[in-house]
Amino acid sequence: MSPAPLAAYPALRLRRLRQADWIRRMVRESVLTPADLIWSMVVHEGDGEVPVASMPGVSRLSVKECAKAAVEARKLGIPAIAIFPHIDGSKKDALGSQAADPNGVIANAIKAMKDAAPEVGIMCDVALDPFTDHGHDGVIENGKIANDPTIERLVEQGLIQAQAGCDILAPSDMMDGRCAALRTALEGAGLQDTMIMSYAAKFASAFYGPYRDAIGSGKLGTGGAPIDKKTYQMDSANTEEALREVALDIAEGADMVMVKPGMPYLDIVSRVVETFQMPTFAFQVSGEYAMIMAAAQNGWIDEERAILESLGAFKRAGAAGVITYFAPRAAKMLGA
Ligand code: PBG
Repeated sequence: MSPAPLAAYPALRLRRLRQADWIRRMVRESVLTPADLIWSMVVHEGDGEVPVASMPGVSRLSVKECAKAAVEARKLGIPAIAIFPHIDGSKKDALGSQAADPNGVIANAIKAMKDAAPEVGIMCDVALDPFTDHGHDGVIENGKIANDPTIERLVEQGLIQAQAGCDILAPSDMMDGRCAALRTALEGAGLQDTMIMSYAAKFASAFYGPYRDAIGSGKLGTGGAPIDKKTYQMDSANTEEALREVALDIAEGADMVMVKPGMPYLDIVSRVVETFQMPTFAFQVSGEYAMIMAAAQNGWIDEERAILESLGAFKRAGAAGVITYFAPRAAKMLGA
C-alpha cells in the first residue's frame, strides 16, 4: 500500500497531533502492556536472595522465592517467566551432566512455580553452559564445539524440563538441527503441547557479560577450550544469515522465534517480523539491563523513562513481546 499524499506545510503541521497527552495517546501506533513481558529470572540452589553485582536490582532467587515470584507475575499480568540456573561450580563438568538432572534446581523451580501459580507460563533455556566447567554451550571434541553430540544432550535436558512442567523450551545454544530434535523427542514422549521458542537469531555478543556473572558461568578459554562462542553464535554483522537461521528453526517446528540481544538488533527483529509473520520475541539481555541501570545510577538518564522507552521500542519494531529483567518493575509502571 502506498502512503496517502502529504499536504504541504502549513496545511500539514505534524505537531498538531503531539500537542497534548490525550491526542498523543489517541494516535499512538504501538502499545506496551504487561502481557508483552517475559520475566527473566535466575534461580540458585541455596536459600534466600543473592544480589548480582553487575545487575543492580537483580538477585538470584531460591526455589521458594521463584514460586513467590510466579504468584507476583500472575498478580502483575506478566504471562510467563524464563528461568536460568546458577549451580555450584563443584557440580560442573565438561559434559554439563547436571543439565539433565531430574532433581536439579531447574526441575525443582519449575515444579514449585507451577504449584504456586499454574496460570503463569514457564520457559527454560535448553543449553549446557550453566552446567559446563568450560562455560561453552556444547560438548567439546578435539578443541571444537561438537554439534550433533551436543544435540543429544540438549534433548535429554529438554525432556527433563518438559516432564517437570515447563511450558516453553527455549533452545539457546545455536547448534544446527536442535529444534527438530527437540520437536521429535517431545512428540515421541507424548509432550505434544510443549512449545518451542527458539533463540533463532542469536548473536555472539559482548552484551551477555553480566549474565555470566549472574549464573556463575565457567570462564571461556580455560583448558584449551575456545575463547569465545563465535563458531556457533552468529556474527553480529549479518542479517541475511539471521533470516536463514529463523527459516530453518520454523521449518524444524519452532512455534515462536527470538532475536537476541535486543536493542542493538532491532533491525533484525523488524526484518524477521516482516519476512515470516511468526510470533517474534526479543531478549533485552543482561548487558542492556546493566547499561540502563549504570547510567541511571549515575544520574545520567531517567531510569523509569529509559526502561519503558527501551521496552516500547521492541513493540514498535513489531515484536510480540520482550524477555526482560525489568518485567516486574515495568509491569508496575504500566499500572498493573
Ligand atoms: C546461554 C544463554 C546466554 C544468555 C541466555 N542464555 C549466554 C550466552 O549465550 O553466552 C544471555 C542472557 C543475558 O545476557 O541476559 N546459552
